[in-house]
Amino acid sequence: MESLLAKIASADAASIAHAGRILRHGGLVAFPTETVYGLGADATNGRAVAGIFAAKGRPRFNPLIVHVRDLAEAERHAEFTDTARDLAARFWPGALTLVLPRATTPLSDLVSAGLSTVALRVPAHPVAQRLLQEAAVPIAAPSANPSGKVSATTAVHVAEGLQDKVDFILDGGATILGLESTVIGFDGDRPVLLRPGAIAREDIEAVAGSLRKAGPAIQSPGQLDSHYAPSASLRLNVSEPEPDETLLGFGPSQNAALNLSPAGNLKEAAANLFAMLRQLDRNAPRIAVMPIPERGLGEAINDRLRRAAAARA
Ligand code: TXA
Ligand code: MG
Repeated sequence: MESLLAKIASADAASIAHAGRILRHGGLVAFPTETVYGLGADATNGRAVAGIFAAKGRPRFNPLIVHVRDLAEAERHAEFTDTARDLAARFWPGALTLVLPRATTPLSDLVSAGLSTVALRVPAHPVAQRLLQEAAVPIAAPSANPSGKVSATTAVHVAEGLQDKVDFILDGGATILGLESTVIGFDGDRPVLLRPGAIAREDIEAVAGSLRKAGPAIQSPGQLDSHYAPSASLRLNVSEPEPDETLLGFGPSQNAALNLSPAGNLKEAAANLFAMLRQLDRNAPRIAVMPIPERGLGEAINDRLRRAAAARA
C-alpha cells in the first residue's frame, strides 16, 4: 500500500501539469470528476487506450467515454443532432454523456469498441477541466475501478482497486455526486436512456422530451453484464433484515448499520452509495438494503443496487 499511496498526489497546479505530461506520453492517470474517479488515457493513442482495458480487465466490447473540454471540441468528434446540442447546452459541463455517431476524428477506434458511435462528456470538476487543458488531448476514461467492481469515489479507492496498474493518481477529495454520469444515446433525434445516472431522468426529459429505455437494438454494452459487485451478498427492498444481515438504511431507521440518507434525500444517498457499499463489504458478508423510491436519482441508485445484487445471484 505504501508504494501505492506514493502514486497519489494532491491535485494542485504542479501535479496536474505532471499528470498532463504522463497522459501525453501514453500513460494512465486516475483523476477526480464530479461523478466518480476516472482512469484516463490519451483517447487518440490506441496503445494508451488499450492500456485502460488491460488495467481494468475490461472486456474489449465495452466502449469508453471520451472527456473533452467543451461542446466545440465535442463537435469535432461526433455528429450532433439538435436535441443532442440542446442537452449539451443545458448540462455541460456536467454529469451527462452523449453517445453520437463518430465524425471523422483522430480518436482511437478502440474507444468505440467497434461501434460506429462515440460517447462524449465535458466534466465539470475543476481538476478534470484543468487536466484536459494541460494534457491538450481528449481523455478516454472509464470509472477507475477493476471491471465489474464498485466505482471509486476517492483516490484511496482507486489505489485499492488498481494497485500498480496506474501511473499516477490525482487526489481531488471525495467526488460530490458519487454516481456515474447519465448516458443518453439517440435513435435518429430521439433520445434513449442507455444508463441512468447522476442527472435524473426528469431533468433530461424537461429538455429532450420523454426518454425511451434502450431496446435490444440500441446497445450500451456496459449495461449487459453484472456490475458494481461487492463481495458480500446483497438483498434489496428490505424492511426487516434477517439476524445475520447488516442493514444499509435509507430514511429513518433504528437498526441500520450505515444510512445512505437518514433524511431520505436521494442526492445524499447517491453521494454515499459506493463508499458505504465498500465500507460494509469489508466486514459484512450479507448486506440488506432498505427500499429506495424509483423517482429522481432513485432510478440510478436502484439500477446500481440491482446490478450489485444480480452479480451474486
Ligand atoms: O461518470 C462517468 O460516466 C464516469 C466518469 C469517469 O466520467 N465514467 C464512467 O465510464 O462511468 P464507464 O466506462 O464506467 O461507463 C461508460 C458507460 C458504459 O456503460 C459503456 O458501455 C457506455 O458508457 N458507452 C460508452 N461508449 C458507448 C457507445 N459508443 N455506445 C453505447 N454505450 C457506450
Ligand atoms: Mg464503470
